[in-house]
This record gives sequence, C-alpha cells and structure tokens, in this order.
Amino acid sequence: KRKGFIFDLDGVIVDTAKYHFLAWRNLANSLGIDFTEEENEQLKGVSRVRSLEKILDWGNKSISQEEFDRLMAHKNEEYLAHVDRMDEDELLPKVAETLEYLKEQNQAIALGSASKNARRILEKVDLTDQFDAIVDGTDVSKAKPDPEVFLIGAKALDIKPEDCIVFEDSVAGVQAANIAGMVSIGIGDKYVLHEADHIFRDFTELSKDFLQELIRK
Ligand code: BG6
Ligand code: MG
Repeated sequence: KRKGFIFDLDGVIVDTAKYHFLAWRNLANSLGIDFTEEENEQLKGVSRVRSLEKILDWGNKSISQEEFDRLMAHKNEEYLAHVDRMDEDELLPKVAETLEYLKEQNQAIALGSASKNARRILEKVDLTDQFDAIVDGTDVSKAKPDPEVFLIGAKALDIKPEDCIVFEDSVAGVQAANIAGMVSIGIGDKYVLHEADHIFRDFTELSKDFLQELIRK
C-alpha cells in the first residue's frame, strides 16, 4: 500500500534543537529570564512567535510589539549563523537511509515542519529532492499541536490522514499527529513522548520489518 510518511525536521532529521536552545537561552538570559533544558522541551515544535510569548510568560515580562519583533529577528539571526555552518554530517543517524528505503518502497514522503527556515536547512543537508511535498512554517497559520501542518501535508501527498505516519520529536507534534488521526511515532525520550503510538530513541532502532508493517497495515 502507498502510505504517507511525514517527517518533522528539527530534532527528527537534523539536530537543530541544540541551536534553537542556544539562541533562545541567550535571548531569555538577556531579559534576565532563566532558561533550562526543561523549558526548551516545551518550545520544541512550537512556532517562533509562540516560543517568545512563552518565554516572556515564564519571566512575567511584557514588552512592546517593536521590541518583540526585534528580539525575534535577533534570535533568528543567531540561529541562522549556526545553520549556515551545517552540512550532511548533521543528519541524525539512519535518517537518510530511512528516506531512501521508503522511496524504494514507493511510499509518499513529506516534510511537516513549523520552521520558516526548513527549506534552507534541507538544502544545507542536501535532502530537498527526497520529499514529494514540503510543508513548513510559511504554509501554516496554526501552530502544532494544531494538526494543520500535517493535514496540509497529507493533502499535498494525496493520501488520507489515516494512511499517514508522522515522525516527531516534540510533544506538541505528537499531539498534532494524534489529532490529525495519523499514526504518531515519537523519536526521542519515551517518558516525554509517551502520547505517541510508537517511540524510538532514534532511527537506528527502527527496523525495516517495522517500516514494512506500517506500509502493510
Ligand atoms: C520547530 C522547532 O521545528 O520550528 C522550534 O522545533 C522552532 O524550536 C520552530 O521555534 C520555528 O522555527 P523557525 O526556524 O521558523 O524559527
Ligand atoms: Mg521537532
């Protein structure tokens, strides 16, 4: 059967979560707000605007719209300085092999990311051509856990939501996949991602037999 495999980008395909963390932490600290790994976990999968709103909430800070826009632009510049140094070495283990295998099996493959930088990052790691559809932060108006990004992805692939499988490293993303009625596969910590239908540490743990099962079902 032809299924739709939808991949999140940050933290699933590439390890950019660490760069988002560094840039958000600098921003938070510059406002006198503490920023730990735990807080960072809650920003995974969350849009840029919503992330800054959350940080300001945690620090009980309110700022002008102008300052808000300035901080967001600054955060993105700092983040992109990391991104521009990226190459294929930053692909997470067995991601490229998994994409290739699904392609060989004639499966439909989409990107479903909240990031407005997604296309730039795919170019850096030379993966753009692997995707039949790319849906990113420039295509959506509602942030995960809203299922919009994955539903647009399914539509672009012309595959029913219930025949789609989503790979996600964030709580918000797993929730979005579940709400969309798709199979959710958490990539990361099994306690953090316990709402997912299946959880793996990374793609090295995900066998071809398991992928075949997803395709057959
Ligand atoms: C998500 C990341 O993929 O994209 C978030 O997990 C990030 O951390 C969001 O805030 C938006 O990304 P960007 O690149 O448009 O700031
Ligand atoms: Mg992610």
